[in-house]
Amino acid sequence: MLDSRLFQAANIQKMSGIRNLAKRTIRQVAASLRRMRYRSEPEKIVALGYDEMAADYGSWTLHHERPDRARYTELLMQNLPEGADLLELGCGPGDPTTKTLARRYNVTANDISESCLRLARENAPGATFIKSDMASLDFPANSFDAVVAFYSFHHLPRDRYEPLLQNIANWLKPGGVFMAAMYPYDIDNLVTEDWHGSTMYWSSFDEERTIELVTSTGLKIIEQSKESAIEDGKETTFLWLLAAKA
Ligand SMILES: C[S@@+](CC[C@H](N)C(=O)[O-])C[C@H]1O[C@@H](n2cnc3c(N)ncnc32)[C@H](O)[C@@H]1O
Repeated sequence: MLDSRLFQAANIQKMSGIRNLAKRTIRQVAASLRRMRYRSEPEKIVALGYDEMAADYGSWTLHHERPDRARYTELLMQNLPEGADLLELGCGPGDPTTKTLARRYNVTANDISESCLRLARENAPGATFIKSDMASLDFPANSFDAVVAFYSFHHLPRDRYEPLLQNIANWLKPGGVFMAAMYPYDIDNLVTEDWHGSTMYWSSFDEERTIELVTSTGLKIIEQSKESAIEDGKETTFLWLLAAKA
């Protein structure tokens, strides 16, 4: 009797091991195919990935709330009067950040993923939404009092950072602020197979180069810190920047 139970338990464990291996293999193959197909269009990898897992990312982010998000949102609100014109780059599903900001500001929120935007429209009905690659956005000079990017820059190819940061500096009104949570890691064109179960694209610079890129636009950094938090058992650090246009 005991033998047969042990045998059953061993079999179940073996089957679940096989299932996990099969899932991992399928993800690896899917990632390789996307990597090859969209070699020169990494933004498609990002859009397809977030389209697949927007709801999962949205509920994960609410249950893995990082203290730095709330702290920097508060800092932004202390520096920005009610009714200000604010642009958010890569708003995701819109909860909690877009939702909070849209209660106080005139928010234009952008994302490349339609599934994220569908959720964001529900979560932050007061905002105006633009579906686009943030690197292709175009606004007149002096359009916004603030531009924010919470955890979204690291999905951009490296060669898009400089022109986008230049655009941000140009879109800001004098005295306007830029706030971002940037990945302070030297990563170039990385494609991974399991960001919330989907293939994802990542690129970023180390801390020194990131700061150099921001300040070379003429923006002046008024607050910066590196904030670490444990996410799914792994320490993840973001470089938070608040910069102002003279
Ligand atoms: C890690 S999520 C962060 C979402 C949200 N800002 C938050 O704080 O939870 C990154 C978001 O950036 C968006 N994104 C990535 N690359 C983008 C691009 N090139 N243009 C516009 N949105 C982009 C993704 O679709 C995704 O919604």
